[in-house]
Amino acid sequence: MKKLIKNGTVVTATDQYEADVLIEDGKITAIGSNLSDKADEVIDAKGAYLFPGGIDPHTHLDMPFGGSVTSDDFETGTIAAAYGGTTTIIDFCLTNKGEPLKNSIQTWHDKSKDKAVIDYGFHLMIGEVNDAVLNEIPEIIEDEGITSFKVFMAYKNVFQADDQTLFRTLLTAKEHGALVMVHAENGDVIDYLVNEALEKGNTDPIYHALTRPPEVEGEATGRAAQLTGLANSQLYVVHVSCAEAVKKIAEARQKGYQVWGETCPQYLVLDQTDLEKPNFEGAKYVWSPPLREKWNQEVLWNALKNGQLQTLGSDQCSFNFKGQKELGKGDFTKIPNGGPIIEDRFSLFFSEGVKKGRITINQFVDIVSTRTAKLFGLFPQKGTIAVGSDADIVIFDPNQERTISVDTHHMNVDYSAFEGMEITGEPVSVLSRGEFVIKDKQFVGKPGNGQYLKRKRYESQTEIPEKVLQ
Ligand code: URP
Ligand code: ZN
Ligand code: ZN
Repeated sequence: MKKLIKNGTVVTATDQYEADVLIEDGKITAIGSNLSDKADEVIDAKGAYLFPGGIDPHTHLDMPFGGSVTSDDFETGTIAAAYGGTTTIIDFCLTNKGEPLKNSIQTWHDKSKDKAVIDYGFHLMIGEVNDAVLNEIPEIIEDEGITSFKVFMAYKNVFQADDQTLFRTLLTAKEHGALVMVHAENGDVIDYLVNEALEKGNTDPIYHALTRPPEVEGEATGRAAQLTGLANSQLYVVHVSCAEAVKKIAEARQKGYQVWGETCPQYLVLDQTDLEKPNFEGAKYVWSPPLREKWNQEVLWNALKNGQLQTLGSDQCSFNFKGQKELGKGDFTKIPNGGPIIEDRFSLFFSEGVKKGRITINQFVDIVSTRTAKLFGLFPQKGTIAVGSDADIVIFDPNQERTISVDTHHMNVDYSAFEGMEITGEPVSVLSRGEFVIKDKQFVGKPGNGQYLKRKRYESQTEIPEKVLQ
């Protein structure tokens, strides 16, 4: 069965041109003019952009955290992702100290099996480093194709690892060709500030932000970057929220270190005042790092534009307001950290970024798809529209207007962090390996159709975007 997408405008990280795209056995087999006679099914994409499917490098589906479990699992989460133009996710597999890493990976395979509607891979958390862990890592890279490892520098007494663990993970990653990811906040200092706030009776959601100030993110980011330089390794800083952290990443990159930074839509459009909403509504905006003072948004946009930050993750980690976020009434430390973003990441970024002239359309594709594929060992199978690549394609109407709302979203959660926000541009149809998952805005996919992705090892990226700009 051959499909032909006709009359669309193909957009990649470098190009934009009108062409027909022919799909065969899940792959793109031809791009050109007048290919109609070769297809069984023809899809007219007149007036639409053809983007490579979005790649979300940062999701937490069906994850136990903060005394609860995230409300979206691999079925609801990937359906919502597909509605939003994302065709690949990389989810975080948690591990438990003292247990074989392979057991945790199996748990994540069990969670996702027969559920995902789009392709997916896993990052693996490293909470401690000992001989058993060091022995397992090369096997996991080889057998599971897991080539990115996550170290938490915060969440004391839960996930937090010490500096030696981070440093040895960096050394091991260098040796075996993996990318180390960090949640960069100074967990020890946060712990002190949190206890101090609680002792003073400061229990409202806003104290979540006030006890995790930008300095603790800047400090941890700088520390991780320095250790990366010392280990001559490679680092990816997740969910960068503020100027202090951007500065540390930029400085490391200027030194030639392989340090990469991801931000998230929430930090680009929401701010710290959202945590002050009355009736405990501020809890809906509790995630870590916290939302920042508004002026940081401009810093993040500029960093995306000039290449100091390179990717956009959703940090999808949804908890219902009722029954989950409410656990923290009277004590902000008990509010489960995280928010529902997976569905809005792509379109919101297009609307706020491309439509508002903050980034070019090619930068949009690079940030939401191509660069992520390159960093996480998926390119050129994923992340571009090219002959031989998987036919993961978003047929996107750039002029469709929409108001984001809990009433219309598909995530399994009882609020939207972006309620009432008006955006322009949305996916009309979405294909995963040549099969429709979303067709004319309706879900037509099937749980279990998403395939687990074994990823390639980290490849040193020689292009330094900042230099391109100079
Ligand atoms: O608050 C957040 N970000 N929740 C998800 C876990 C993490 O730190 O990424
Ligand atoms: Zn985190
Ligand atoms: Zn996260």
